[in-house]
Amino acid sequence: MTRLPKKLQDKLVQRDVQNTLRHLPEANNLVDFSSNDYLGLSRDAKLFQRASQLLAERGILQNGATGSRLLSGNHSLYSELEAKLSEFHQTESALVFNSGYDANIGFFGSVPQRGDVVFYDEFIHASIRDGIKMGNAKAYKFKHNDIGDLQRKYQIEFQRRGDDSIEIPKSSTGVVYVITESVFSMDGDSPELKAFVRFCQKNRCHLVVDEAHAVGVFGINGQGLVQTLELHDAVFARIITFGKAVGCHGAAILGSKNLKNYLVNFARSLIYTTAMPPHSLATVLASYENLTASRLTSDEQIAQNQIVNLSETIAYFNHKLKLLHLHLEDASKASSSDDGLDSYFIPSVSAIHCCVLPGNERVRAISEKIQKAGFDVKAILSPTVPKGKERLRICLHSFNTHEEIDNVLQTLSFCIQNP
Ligand SMILES: Cc1ncc(COP(=O)(O)O)c(C=O)c1O
Repeated sequence: MTRLPKKLQDKLVQRDVQNTLRHLPEANNLVDFSSNDYLGLSRDAKLFQRASQLLAERGILQNGATGSRLLSGNHSLYSELEAKLSEFHQTESALVFNSGYDANIGFFGSVPQRGDVVFYDEFIHASIRDGIKMGNAKAYKFKHNDIGDLQRKYQIEFQRRGDDSIEIPKSSTGVVYVITESVFSMDGDSPELKAFVRFCQKNRCHLVVDEAHAVGVFGINGQGLVQTLELHDAVFARIITFGKAVGCHGAAILGSKNLKNYLVNFARSLIYTTAMPPHSLATVLASYENLTASRLTSDEQIAQNQIVNLSETIAYFNHKLKLLHLHLEDASKASSSDDGLDSYFIPSVSAIHCCVLPGNERVRAISEKIQKAGFDVKAILSPTVPKGKERLRICLHSFNTHEEIDNVLQTLSFCIQNP
């Protein structure tokens, strides 16, 4: 076999030396505090059966999609699903992509044009960054969730626009996009979406919100944070994904019919790839049927019940965090302090909770100890997060018990107190 070029091998060695080499983990039977399966729907037998039933009812016996959506792959279930998504998410149209990654590179690689400007949160997901890089618009990051910093960056840019020496065209047709997430994947926190909407309305910017970690978590039916705050008419586009709380795979971009038409024509990650197979579409449909739940008996309302369980679990977790206190000896000062465990966590009311423990080695060592105790808690290292902000990421699920939460937090407290 031809060898990996030396310069690539060197990059791997460098990662190894820096203790940042990534590995594909083995499957495990630990208590799940790491997956995005917030409602447990990925493993739900009734949903699995309902998806098969949906296919059988329509006489669909097909394994693969056979081609791109623009050629042979646009199965009839696509229009059914997109109609359901539009209704459920109160939008004019929905366009399904194979994944959130594809949706984001498709959108950000084709919508912002040369002469446009993109302002994005510094902690935005990698798929959005990659999409922005594929496009030709100027892009500037603003500090995480900091509307004041967005305002400053916008003003600097606005002043520059009047300056011929700067490359940015003054054209009045230049569009300004503001990009954020309703729940940040590595922090679990949320921006002041209402303030972002006000800013965008005042400055005629197009607001785009990635709702990957909010769908299924916020809203009585899991509609996401944008709809819960009744802001859906004020945003230009939303990205929703089906691989997290919806328990399946794929994603959709929600927006106007014209936006959908544009993406069908220009989003390369939609055009040049084989479509999702009918079985995946049927699973997403079954999951949304369940979120809607109007035609189901209370016993059948799996997702509905799980949404309630999840919000109760999140409240219990935050309550326990406040109760736990750490007694830390500071050898250098021969003193000790009594810290609340909550002071280590980024405040969050979502399913994602992060305990910041600076240093790759330290956070990795603690995660290994917690895993040995039976809990699947992942360390998030730099450079995935900024240096000094390395963290443990605890994802909560509707199926996590109070006992599991008590035990994982006790174990975490012990590990912090006994380095
Ligand atoms: C905020 C956000 N957007 C998009 C994605 C990509 O979604 P998918 O996993 O469906 O590709 C992720 C995945 O983790 C995410 O966290």
